[in-house]
Amino acid sequence: MNASRFFIFLFSAGFFVIACTTEPEAPPFEPEILSLPADPSDYAPLPTYVAMDIPEDNPITAEKAALGRQLFFDQRISGDASRSCYSCHVCELGLADGKPTAVGAFDKVLTRNSPTLWNIGYHPEFYWDGRAKSLEAQALAAWKGGNMGANPDEIVAKLNSIEGYRDQFQKVFNEGATPENVSKALAAYMRTIVSHDTPWDGWQAGDESAVSDAAKRGYEVFKKAECNNCHDGVLFTDFQYHNVGIGMDAEEPDLGRYKVTQDEKDKGAFKTPTLRDVAQSAPYFHDGSTATLEEVVDIMVGGGKENPQLDRANLKKVTLSPAEKEDLLEFLRSLDQPCALTEPPLPSVRGSE
Ligand code: HEC
Ligand code: HEC
Repeated sequence: MNASRFFIFLFSAGFFVIACTTEPEAPPFEPEILSLPADPSDYAPLPTYVAMDIPEDNPITAEKAALGRQLFFDQRISGDASRSCYSCHVCELGLADGKPTAVGAFDKVLTRNSPTLWNIGYHPEFYWDGRAKSLEAQALAAWKGGNMGANPDEIVAKLNSIEGYRDQFQKVFNEGATPENVSKALAAYMRTIVSHDTPWDGWQAGDESAVSDAAKRGYEVFKKAECNNCHDGVLFTDFQYHNVGIGMDAEEPDLGRYKVTQDEKDKGAFKTPTLRDVAQSAPYFHDGSTATLEEVVDIMVGGGKENPQLDRANLKKVTLSPAEKEDLLEFLRSLDQPCALTEPPLPSVRGSE
């Protein structure tokens, strides 16, 4: 066939297609599937890593994590369609939001600072005060609560009206979207958010050039100052609740863990935050009251802030030279985690795009 005949053929074939289809058929939604490690309970290369405790009724599969990832990035699941989970857990901001305290759907000002989500699947309890016992329960709470302000029944009806979502829920859960399986998909995705390749990890794995000499000295300072009494292990948290005195001088202090246990000693105690990616996640502390890492280090090195419940057993005032403090900060910066969380293609309502 020569060129002009070929174009005539194309033209008439195109005409034929247009003439025969009254409404162009959108191709079925193709989720973007990311590859997962062979055994998701064993993400990390470090021997000291604890295995991730994944609930038996919610195993991670690549398809479920892909669905959870879409939901995590989809503003349509919030009450006013204004924010997604990702809005407050952003890559460039250490998987937090850069605000002192978060601002939820319907512009509701919340009382606490957005924490990072790195390695969240390893936590035994969730939130600054540990009030949620599973990531599934946490996801449901964040979705219904002030953060996302959603009415789950209304949102699942919306999701089930979107073919691309409906098909994926059918495939992954053998049913349409429900509040429970939305939470399960979100939790499965969050368990894939793992930090294990910071410069510090490279150094620990034997690459002497992965961090600066200052960071190496800083790690020794960190141990000398006994920061690891609480920021323990490769996740730099003991998952326990300690009072270091932040916000206790407020008119009505946030009593933190005490709200969960009603135990006097837990007044003003909060979960030890991980230090991974900490240089990116300013401002700091449960109330976002401290703007810079330098100020945080001064408070912690100074033994926290005086109040009746201060955990003096673990947090001691230490004297560091300015050079040691600089090294300590350099070590904290060696925990920067390259972040590749990106918004996947989202299923659209037919005809709306
Ligand atoms: C408006 C900002 C905002 C949005 C939107 C948001 N979060 Fe959060 N997230 C927070 C804040 C603030 C906290 C801490 C609340 C507390 O401790 O009381 C938090 C805590 C968490 C935690 C617990 C972290 C830990 O260290 O225990 C997880 C997990 C989490 N969010 C996941 C989600 C998911 C999933 C969604 C979407 C359904 C979501 N977040 C939406 C601000 C937000
Ligand atoms: C007694 C346990 C304990 C010790 C020891 C301790 N910390 Fe902390 N650290 C905490 C707790 C708990 C918080 C959160 C307090 C809050 O928000 O109210 C925290 C918060 C931080 C933060 C802010 C993290 C964030 O995401 O907001 C940094 C940085 C930090 N600590 C570094 C250090 C350094 C450096 C040392 C040693 C000089 C140290 N900590 C010693 C328990 C401890």
